[in-house]
This record gives sequence, structure tokens and C-alpha cells, in this order.
Amino acid sequence: MAPPMRSLLGLANALEETVVRTQVGIVGAGPAGLLLSHILHLRGIESVVLERHARDDVEAIIKAGVLEQGTIDLMNEIGAGGRMMKEGFRHEGIVLRFDGRDERIDFPSHTSGKSVMIYAQHDVIKDLIKVRLESDGDIRFESKDVSVYDLDTTEPKIRYRDLQGDIHEITCDFIAGCDGTQSVCRPSVPAGVLKVYERLYPFGWFGILCQAPPSSSELIYSMHERGFVLVSTRSPDIQRMYFQCSPTDKTDNWSDDRIWAEFRARLETKDGWAPKEGRIFSKTVIGMRSLVVEPMRYGRLFLAGDSAHVVPPTGAKGLNLAATDAQILARALIEYYKSNRTDLLDRYSDTALRRVWKATRFSWWMTSMLHTFPGADEFQHRLQLAELDYVTRSKAGAAALAENYVGLPID
Ligand code: PHB
Repeated sequence: MAPPMRSLLGLANALEETVVRTQVGIVGAGPAGLLLSHILHLRGIESVVLERHARDDVEAIIKAGVLEQGTIDLMNEIGAGGRMMKEGFRHEGIVLRFDGRDERIDFPSHTSGKSVMIYAQHDVIKDLIKVRLESDGDIRFESKDVSVYDLDTTEPKIRYRDLQGDIHEITCDFIAGCDGTQSVCRPSVPAGVLKVYERLYPFGWFGILCQAPPSSSELIYSMHERGFVLVSTRSPDIQRMYFQCSPTDKTDNWSDDRIWAEFRARLETKDGWAPKEGRIFSKTVIGMRSLVVEPMRYGRLFLAGDSAHVVPPTGAKGLNLAATDAQILARALIEYYKSNRTDLLDRYSDTALRRVWKATRFSWWMTSMLHTFPGADEFQHRLQLAELDYVTRSKAGAAALAENYVGLPID
């Protein structure tokens, strides 16, 4: 495929140009890209990671904070789990609040001892960047105008402009597109190759960070006629909470007093429970959608993480899916370099998608069970209550939620 015209012009104008070769070119220093790069490094495979944002910005992006058991294990196996084990909080269950009462789902008893870790995504990113740089990893922050081409040849290439304006070209054996929802890799696949499956939800989440002690020792997922609420946490002093809002809502519409009144109204229980309030220092409105593209490969470009799929945050699966994509792709690349086998690379998309679709289903199911849908009638509401009652009272129902929440196996 010919390089895009913009890149050609940039190349011609460049004062200085360096051409480099690497085994795996990785676009994006998010969880998928950093994990992939480090797993490959530990097996002697070199990579270059290109990231459009500055290091400080990448380390400050606020996202969810629940690590599945497999993600915890992976962080430890690759030597990046030290701070997580010290500062993260192991949670062995969640609370489902509905009908003014609390029902707990226990994880270890339903999953042969598995649990989750509350540890913010930006802390995962900080830890991964640190281990990569300590082992001389090549992460090029603030790489602009990244483009990928020659994807259907054995020498796919990445071109980008550095901060000084110099154009660089990297010839790779493979390219991993780990560049998130705003991916440049995904649209570089010729039209008609990828199929996109998408569902938009008719609501968003209003997220806050506040300075307060935890209101609960475990996350509370609360279903209420006024709308869903999630009570989460970040540390003994900082709490993360969300309430369902209109997808077009604006943070300016919500004063601190109005936010706390809404939380109190939606979280009420028969015995008068109320959240601990404190100074709100961050407010965001988050859109809710599900998206999957198939296949997750074109030629020698492999998509991983949010560039290939997006889930609503209800199941806390985004980061964890990125981590399993990285593991599946790393395993396939390691086999290729070790024994020239291409079958795992050929199966990458199918293997990853099998798990992606299950996490997509789980996130959609949690979202549907817990949110108030505009226009829903009393019949719908009763069905949701019945489902919550079933899930919390039936051993099989609770086990199904628990095994999905702590993370399904890769294969
Ligand atoms: C969070 O703490 O940000 C969080 C936790 C659980 C979720 C989603 C977000 O399901």
C-alpha cells in the first residue's frame, strides 16, 4: 500500500530523517501496548512504543480501577506488581443494592479463591512505564502524525514526527495497534475489511472524585428508579462515585450540593444508610457504548485493547480486556520468534474475540440489569428486580456473576 500523501510530503520536507528497524512496532502506550512491550522484552523480543501524548498526560488519564485476578497475576509475573500489592485493595465481593436492601456476592467461594484488586488504571500505567524504562524500553512520547502502512507486506512501517518536527520511519516485522478508541491503526485497514458491531446506551455516567473516607468496604452497585449509582473507591482518603445521567448532561449542570442530594436519594436503604460526603475535585460525564470490530487483524497489523473494542464501564472490563489481548498477542509473537510458527498469530483474532464477546456480553448484562432505561415501564422494572433477586439468591446466579467479574480464563 502506498504511504499516505501527507507522510510523503512530510518526509520530503524533513531536515533530518532516521530509518529504524524493530521487531514489533507498538502504537500506543496504554495498558495493551505497555504490557505487550514488556512481556516481549522478557522473552528477548524488541519493540518500539510510540505514544502521541506526553508521559505526564498518559499517567494522569482517569479511568476505572478494578483489576481481574488474571491481570493481578500478570502484573506480578512481569515484575510490575510491587506497588499494586502494597497500595491496592483486594476486594472479595461486591454489594448489589436494590429495593432498599443490600445483597453481597462473594467471589472466592464461587471461583476457587479468586478476587479483584482496586487499583487505578493510571497507577497501572505509571508502574508499567517505570518497569519499561528501567529495562531500557524504547517509549517515544509525544510522537505526532503517526501513520502505519505496508500492512499487507512482510515489512509493515510506522511513520511519525517527533517534537523537533523530524520525520522518522520504523520498519517492523509486525505492528500492534494499541492506540485506543481514537486509533489511527484501525482506520488504516482498507474499507470493507473490518466489521463493526456497536450498541449505544441511552444514558451516561456522571463520575466524581472526592476527598472523603470510604463509605463502604466493598463496591456498591445500586439500582434505583432515579437511576443507577456505583460507589467505588481509590484510597482511604479519595473516593470514586458515579451516577447514571443523560448522555448529553454537562458537569456545569451539577453543583456539589445537587450531586450529593442525588447520591443520597438514589442510595437510600431501609435502615437509613448515607454516603460519606467530602470535597469534590473532579467531575466528568462518560458516554456508554459497546463496540467490537472483527477481525482484530489485517495482514501484519494486530489490534489490541480499546482500538478493537469498547465496553460500558459497568463490568469494569476495559483495562482487563486490554491485558488479555496483550497476553494472547505476546504468546503468538513469542511462538513465531521461537519456532517460526504462525498458527497462533493466525488464530489471534479468533482467540481474543471469543473472550472479548463474553466480556461484552457481561458488561451489557450488568448495564441492562442495573440501569433505568428511559421510557421503561413498571413491567421492565419488575423484571430487573426479579433478575437481581435471582442473581443474589441462587448459587448458580451468584457464581455466574462472580466468575465473570473476577475474569474468565483466556482460552
Ligand atoms: C471505578 O472505580 O472507577 C470503577 C469500578 C467499578 C466499575 C467501574 C468503574 O464497574
